[in-house]
Amino acid sequence: MVMGPSGTGKSTVIKLMVGLLKPTSGHIFVEGVDVGVKSPKELLEIRKKIGFSFQFGALFDSMNIYENIAFPLKEHTNMKKEEIDKEVDIALKLVGLNPHEVNHLFPDELSGGMQKRVAIARTVILKPDIILYDEPTSGLDPIASDLISRLIVKLQRELGTTSVVISHDIKESFKIAD
Ligand SMILES: Nc1ncnc2c1ncn2[C@@H]1O[C@H](COP(=O)(O)OP(=O)(O)OP(=O)(O)O)[C@@H](O)[C@H]1O
Ligand SMILES: [Mg+2]
Repeated sequence: MVMGPSGTGKSTVIKLMVGLLKPTSGHIFVEGVDVGVKSPKELLEIRKKIGFSFQFGALFDSMNIYENIAFPLKEHTNMKKEEIDKEVDIALKLVGLNPHEVNHLFPDELSGGMQKRVAIARTVILKPDIILYDEPTSGLDPIASDLISRLIVKLQRELGTTSVVISHDIKESFKIAD
């Protein structure tokens, strides 16, 4: 868990971890690798292991839910359409959404909590070793927040991922942290 008041550098910490920003001083080690001194090409290797769920939305408005989740597979793998369909199905079910109900919908047709779950499905589809979540429950009601917290714990357990979670919510943090 990463906690602290607004503007103290939480989002900055995880941007440094994936090499989106370079440290002005000091070193950042991810799985023993000093990410601050790596070339863009070397960083790509590390980024494949890290899923990043952004603080603000980040679904593509012009793509439906299926296309949003399939996007990383189309970009980063040579999978055939049937394989992609299957993976999208699995990812949606993992986050508790029904593929037949949501696949054809667009992000603005879903509630905020559902959009966050779709964003998480898109993050897990490449099976990252580490997932960075920037305020996954902000702006959600207590029930939707609870669902997301349980989902993060479930993904840790079922996929064996390491999670780094930024949150302002002390109650949710106690559910997620081990
Ligand atoms: N690339 C950058 N270069 C210089 N300063 C930056 C950069 N990105 C963010 N900052 C500054 O660093 C500080 C921390 O920002 P950051 O977004 O990490 O805060 P945060 O802890 O995530 O806040 P919040 O809880 O509101 O999301 C802010 O003062 C911001 O203006
Ligand atoms: Mg932030």
